[in-house]
Amino acid sequence: MSVPETATTFIPLSAPEIRGNAWRYVKECLDTGWVSSVGEYVNRFEGMITEAVGAPAAVATCNGTSALHIALLVSGVRPGDEVLVSTLTFIAPVNAIRYVGAWPVLIDAERQFWQMDPEELRDFLKNNCQYSQGELRNRKSGRPVRAILPVHILGHPAEMHAILSIAGEFGLAVIEDATECLGAKYRGVNVGSTGQIACFSFNGNKIITTGGGGAIVTSNLEWATKARYLTTQAKDDSIEFVHGEIGYNYRLTNIQAALGCAQLEMLAEYIEKKRAIAARYQEALHEIPGVTLMREAPWARSIFWMYTILIEEEQFGMSARAALNKLASKGIQTRPLWQPMHLSPAHRDCEAFRCETADWLHARALSLPCSVGLAESDQDFVIESLRSLSSSSKHRLEHRSTPRAIFSDVQRG
Ligand SMILES: Cc1ncc(COP(=O)(O)O)c(C=O)c1O
Repeated sequence: MSVPETATTFIPLSAPEIRGNAWRYVKECLDTGWVSSVGEYVNRFEGMITEAVGAPAAVATCNGTSALHIALLVSGVRPGDEVLVSTLTFIAPVNAIRYVGAWPVLIDAERQFWQMDPEELRDFLKNNCQYSQGELRNRKSGRPVRAILPVHILGHPAEMHAILSIAGEFGLAVIEDATECLGAKYRGVNVGSTGQIACFSFNGNKIITTGGGGAIVTSNLEWATKARYLTTQAKDDSIEFVHGEIGYNYRLTNIQAALGCAQLEMLAEYIEKKRAIAARYQEALHEIPGVTLMREAPWARSIFWMYTILIEEEQFGMSARAALNKLASKGIQTRPLWQPMHLSPAHRDCEAFRCETADWLHARALSLPCSVGLAESDQDFVIESLRSLSSSSKHRLEHRSTPRAIFSDVQRG
């Protein structure tokens, strides 16, 4: 198949999919004047999140970053504490740790599923920390280690049994960043329901969107009450304007929640669509030399929120960055993974514990268009464009192998 020079229209990386009751619900807010941070849709949205995640309580917030900030506060992280967090992540959770005056310690990713590496976590706690003055402290900094913040990246869960068991062993809180993982399963249960507290985001590129929005889910009802209090300016008396402490204006508005309710009604369908997109990529790309496909662990059900491959320059014929530029010139939007946090100028003063795998992944990763509404013809164009970029068709033919089961442990490159 010859590949046209450019796509007939621009193919975005991940566009929101607004369908169903969105217009009806939002119009109702406009018609009734319930547009701000109080209203029936906020309550309904929190109820729907509770149900979708299978957690006892949910508190809606104005975005995922604020959800993380509040989750850290209610789970007891204090100024001067340390929090062990994935280095391979979007910057928001690491910023949130700094908002509370705590210090991130950056932990590497594992190579198979690209999530926080529990072995590195244990290694750091065992060998770089000790109990002193009644607390677990980082030997080097002397600061108390308070919590672990694993980030479930790209729609796939981290190994939570291992992380929770390490947390139990060392007496640490676990705050999950599940912002990219709504609807994913870990060992048969919903991501965000295995630990005590987790956060979601509903910004424009997430599997469902409220325009901007987030949620804290928790099994601790006291934390839920405290989170609701802190996100509404810590208001004790709304008539006399008495505020018990320094709070935040972090609530979701009724308009956003209305959109969120309509979006949540579509969640199951959107997940199926994301999985179908992933399956088509797996099927089509597995034979390209130098391409490593995104994997799904046998214990996981990924939502493939952001379909990502690794490109090995030598076999593929060009680097992931060069491929990004070539694809952009054809009207295809792709993107690399985030600069790992140990390289970020914003967090260069934080401790990083051996982050080689994150560097390795960062150099190779390329996220491909995977909007819920991606047309098959557009996906075919992406696939054919990637094939044509691959340096040597001869090499490709020599290495052709029988396609394996779509979600088996296929790894190449
Ligand atoms: C891993 C991760 N954490 C946190 C956030 C922050 O969410 P928000 O943009 O809603 O503040 C995002 C997404 O933006 C994210 O991808």
